[in-house]
Amino acid sequence: MITAETMLARKSVRSYDGRPIEAETLEKVKGFADRIQNPFGIPVRFVFLDAKEKGLSSPVLTGEPLYVAGKVDKVPYGDVAFGFAMEELLLFAWSLGLGSVWIGGTMKRELFEKAAGLEAGERMPCVSPLGYPAAKRSLRETVMRRGVGADGRLPGEKLFFNGDFGAPLSGKALEPWNELLELVRWAPSAVNRQPWRVVLQGGRFHFYLKHDKGYTSDAVGDMQKIDLGIALCHFACALEERGCEAAFLTEDPGLPCPADTAFIAGFHVPAKRD
Ligand SMILES: Cc1cc2nc3c(=O)[nH]c(=O)nc-3n(C[C@H](O)[C@H](O)[C@H](O)COP(=O)(O)O)c2cc1C
Repeated sequence: MITAETMLARKSVRSYDGRPIEAETLEKVKGFADRIQNPFGIPVRFVFLDAKEKGLSSPVLTGEPLYVAGKVDKVPYGDVAFGFAMEELLLFAWSLGLGSVWIGGTMKRELFEKAAGLEAGERMPCVSPLGYPAAKRSLRETVMRRGVGADGRLPGEKLFFNGDFGAPLSGKALEPWNELLELVRWAPSAVNRQPWRVVLQGGRFHFYLKHDKGYTSDAVGDMQKIDLGIALCHFACALEERGCEAAFLTEDPGLPCPADTAFIAGFHVPAKRD
């Protein structure tokens, strides 16, 4: 199970110490990758690639021994399902002491797609290195983190709403859900844009995407829908840790939305009966 502790401790790692991953640890990660489910029921396939053997690198990384590439069919919600499944894998890897960072842009995509054996009708939206974090971050990594404000997140009142987009979720209404929503708030996203918005309505958490321009392409799909999948993954893991039964929702509740904002999916968390 992925814990709140793991989700709060996780940070992107771009500097590795060069050691290969211990065989037993790697087997656990591969086994987990084979079993991952997502609420969309869209299969996400993972391929593990030795960096040296396959000649793979990224200009933002140092010392990475291995990559994991994820592949998904070009189908509606494929990008969201991909974000969900790959985040669960990277969180599991973190819980075993392995660092990672989502890489959707800073790589030679064709080389990775070839190494991952991408087939017609499939996408390989992102990859991640996996390895043991170096004792010290590279200067480039420190500068990159500063550039995107990686150690900060938007305040909850800009992300979470009560009933409709006009009312931030706060006070008594927020209290029972605060810890859980914090885990969504601290999720990673492309360029740390945090495009997720959540409206709580009668125990239903509706997740919306506030779109920015420039995040869609045929090779990736919609990078910000991947971000939404990641946010949904954090929420689902938090529910599981608390033992909350929840129903997955795909029907748009039809709420009035701000510009460029669209419903993606949600969860109904029925009130617990004593
Ligand atoms: C879908 C996605 C794509 C990303 N692509 C890149 C990338 O190409 N290169 C990179 O250095 N970081 C990339 N990142 C990492 C983000 O910049 C990072 O998650 C964000 O700044 C927050 O920092 P944190 O993960 O340490 O909390 C990506 C993250 C996501 C979720």
